[in-house]
Amino acid sequence: MIWTTLLLFHGVLVLFLILSNRSRSKKEPPLDKGIIPWLGHALDFGKDAAKFLTRMKLKHGDIFTVRVAGHYVTVLLDPNSYDAVLQDPVTLDFTRYAQVLMQRIFSLSLPNHNTSTEKALMRRHFQGESLACLNSIMEGNLQALLRSEMLQDKANWKQDGLFNFCYSLLFRAGYLTLFGGEHNNHDRDSSAVYKEFRVFDSLLTKMARNTLNPEEKRTTSSVRQRLWRLLSLAPPGKKAEDSTWLQSYLQHLQEEGVEEEMQRRAMLLQVWATQGNVGPTAFWLLGFLLTNPEAMNAVKREFNGLSLQADLPQRPPLDKFQNTPVFDSVLNETLRLTAAPFITREVLHSKTLRMADGQEYDIRRGDRVCLFPYISPQMDPEIHKEPEKFKYNRFLNADGSEKNDFYKGGKRLKYYTMPWGAGKNVCVGRHFAISSIKQFVFTVLTVLDLEMCDPDSAMPKVNASRYGFGVLQPETDLDIRYKLRGVF
Ligand code: HEM
Ligand SMILES: *[C@@H]1O[C@H](CO)[C@@H](O)[C@H](O)[C@H]1NC(C)=O
Ligand SMILES: *[C@@H]1O[C@H](CO)[C@@H](O)[C@H](O)[C@H]1NC(C)=O
Ligand SMILES: *[C@@H]1O[C@H](CO)[C@@H](O)[C@H](O)[C@H]1NC(C)=O
Repeated sequence: MIWTTLLLFHGVLVLFLILSNRSRSKKEPPLDKGIIPWLGHALDFGKDAAKFLTRMKLKHGDIFTVRVAGHYVTVLLDPNSYDAVLQDPVTLDFTRYAQVLMQRIFSLSLPNHNTSTEKALMRRHFQGESLACLNSIMEGNLQALLRSEMLQDKANWKQDGLFNFCYSLLFRAGYLTLFGGEHNNHDRDSSAVYKEFRVFDSLLTKMARNTLNPEEKRTTSSVRQRLWRLLSLAPPGKKAEDSTWLQSYLQHLQEEGVEEEMQRRAMLLQVWATQGNVGPTAFWLLGFLLTNPEAMNAVKREFNGLSLQADLPQRPPLDKFQNTPVFDSVLNETLRLTAAPFITREVLHSKTLRMADGQEYDIRRGDRVCLFPYISPQMDPEIHKEPEKFKYNRFLNADGSEKNDFYKGGKRLKYYTMPWGAGKNVCVGRHFAISSIKQFVFTVLTVLDLEMCDPDSAMPKVNASRYGFGVLQPETDLDIRYKLRGVF
């Protein structure tokens, strides 16, 4: 018995060594497998991907292949060459890896799902007139939530962490706007969903990396169950053309024969995709303003100018609200510092990548290609001077107009910051995200007095385990207090 076990063990080991014994061919990017069999660099990657990839970049240059938990990932860090990946969505596929994550994080599988129909639906509902309509519902929800928050105690300061304050208000308002049918009890439902979602969100990176311990697995599974139950399926609209995005989306799933249970799981995916980054962005933006008085004054001056043109102090006319170069620069600078998604694609057929400098590299079928714009362009000192510093007017010219000329290696960059991705899979919701954040910051700065409890606080550190998963989150919260300014 013991011999059989031993033999079997050796057999597996030999097979394993053969499978993991990959070597680099001449035309391939530098290969760095790490010393741990199979796992490779998975631990460093998970602990602090930005630090790890910066180290690899110093060692190997702008393109290299690393082994991570059995997979080979080719990392490309030269923004002038990003189009080689982004402009070939047929060979370098977005959907497959997204499906792997969908299964791991949301226990969701939609085998015959037509993603182009889904995307067309989103595009239709998140631009033009539909977008204007969503924006105004969002504004109403934000104001209603803030009002009910302030109602109990109008005169005194309230205390909170800035991260929780921003995430909670924006999540609930966004949730009510996109998922709250009229049959729901708004406040209660949205608060319950927010509370559970935060637990889910804190485990998300571990779900994606398959590194949950047994206790976390149990928590994950129960919080998912509770969220599935809380998310009620919207009944379909009476006429197709009156349907909301959510109704059309669920209708589409039904037509594909997706069962109700899977539809609920798909709802959680959509809650995450639409609400997971907006609140954290607003946190960093307000935090940077609170710790940079010059920036705060510039934004307030711009917003005051808008209010003066309006009849109601709280609602500048929508067209005026579009023209906010200072705020736009502040938002772009905030996202430059805190948006850190991996742009990952699966290689469906082996191909040759041509870099901007003319070098060519072969990449293998079955591997993954990953761009990490956070390292370059966003934090690249050659492109952005003192990249770790928040400079509110980094994206403004001296005359106050938008600055869009940035250079690397003497070449003007197409991508000088990339919080929304680019190419065919660029974020569909970016316009809605931008207006939501703008409305939120505008409302908070006009109706509240908001300050840090300790005026000398600095911005909290980034939680390094979240690099690669969208907008970063802080490791600790920033204590603030706020109260109503006048009538609201
Ligand atoms: C600050 C907020 C947000 C940020 C930073 C952000 C960022 C991104 C990024 C980087 C991608 C591209 C991923 C890739 O190419 O691999 C993406 C895709 C996407 N985003 Fe956003 N997003 C935000 C908010 C939103 C909102 C509010 C919505 C919906 C209302 C949304 C819907 C989507 C969808 C559906 C995709 C997938 C596009 C596709 O399938 O091709 N996002 N987002
Ligand atoms: C998805 O639907 C579109 C039309 O809505 C169609 O052109 C396309 O071929 C479909 N894709 C798949 C994979 O079925
Ligand atoms: C950092 O993020 C991870 C993953 O989201 C989470 O599990 C962990 O609790 C966070 N750490 C802190 C100090 O918040
Ligand atoms: C901010 O970035 C967006 C694209 O991400 C761009 O359309 C906009 O013009 C930028 N604004 C400024 C002031 O840089």
